[in-house]
Amino acid sequence: MNRFRVDGKLALITGATRGIGLGAARALALAGADVILVGRNRFELEHAADELRQIARHVHVAPYDLSDTSGIEEWFNCLCTTVGTPEILVNSAGIQKRGAAIDLSLDDWHSVMTLNATAVFELSRTFARHLIGEKRTGRIINIASLMTAAARPGTSPYTASKGAVGQLTKALAVEWAQNGILVNAIAPGYIDTELNKSLISDPTFDSWVKSRCPLGRWGTPEDIAWPIVFLASPAANFITGQVIFVDGGWLATF
Ligand SMILES: NC(=O)c1ccc[n+]([C@@H]2O[C@H](COP(=O)([O-])OP(=O)(O)OC[C@H]3O[C@@H](n4cnc5c(N)ncnc54)[C@H](OP(=O)(O)O)[C@@H]3O)[C@@H](O)[C@H]2O)c1
Repeated sequence: MNRFRVDGKLALITGATRGIGLGAARALALAGADVILVGRNRFELEHAADELRQIARHVHVAPYDLSDTSGIEEWFNCLCTTVGTPEILVNSAGIQKRGAAIDLSLDDWHSVMTLNATAVFELSRTFARHLIGEKRTGRIINIASLMTAAARPGTSPYTASKGAVGQLTKALAVEWAQNGILVNAIAPGYIDTELNKSLISDPTFDSWVKSRCPLGRWGTPEDIAWPIVFLASPAANFITGQVIFVDGGWLATF
């Protein structure tokens, strides 16, 4: 048995239309998982699913706006009835609103906190309720950030939300360890995705990232995807409550 594979496991990945979520779905599929892709846009999801159907046995799409946190339980319950209960959950959907703390609106604050933190809590506990009810084990992998540990000016709601993700990872890990639900987070450094489009196209910021990061480059979704597969696999059977920085060495230097 290859301890790094997840053959036949059903994995639900949020934010799977592009970027880190799509990279995670692709790697999980390559490692043998059946996947459920979540995002708001059905067309984008179908586009991603078409690609993954070349490598995965079963690919499902489940469009949902996770900012509507009051509907997550009903949506997820319905999904379990139609597709089955997933045993791997990757919470990757997230947004960033940049701006000075004194200028941002409270709506900006709430929209970031709702998707990046509250939706992660609500979806994770709905997922856990199912697994505990069915006496099954599972894995949750949250996507935290460098900003779980450090901050830059102009990122206050995002930094607060990712701080919450880091601590929530630990809180849920200790609560559900007895149920065999392992909860960890991957905290990426600067990754080349649409979330950072404006930063990548800014030559000053781009050079700063490349000179500041010990490995000298932006990360790719694939750099993040395989550590996610590791945490979902039997190779990580004794790991829970960890926030693992996958940042090209960023936090190791200053
Ligand atoms: N890129 C980085 O450098 C970096 C670094 C650290 C952490 N992260 C974290 O990694 C995660 C993924 O980021 P990314 O860079 O891959 O971003 P991205 O390329 O912008 O992708 C974001 C994904 O989230 C989905 N999404 C956005 N709002 C949603 C909503 N309300 N409901 C459901 N899905 C929604 C998007 O799909 P639709 O728009 O189609 O709904 C898309 O699939 C985020 O949590 C981010 O904070 C990223």
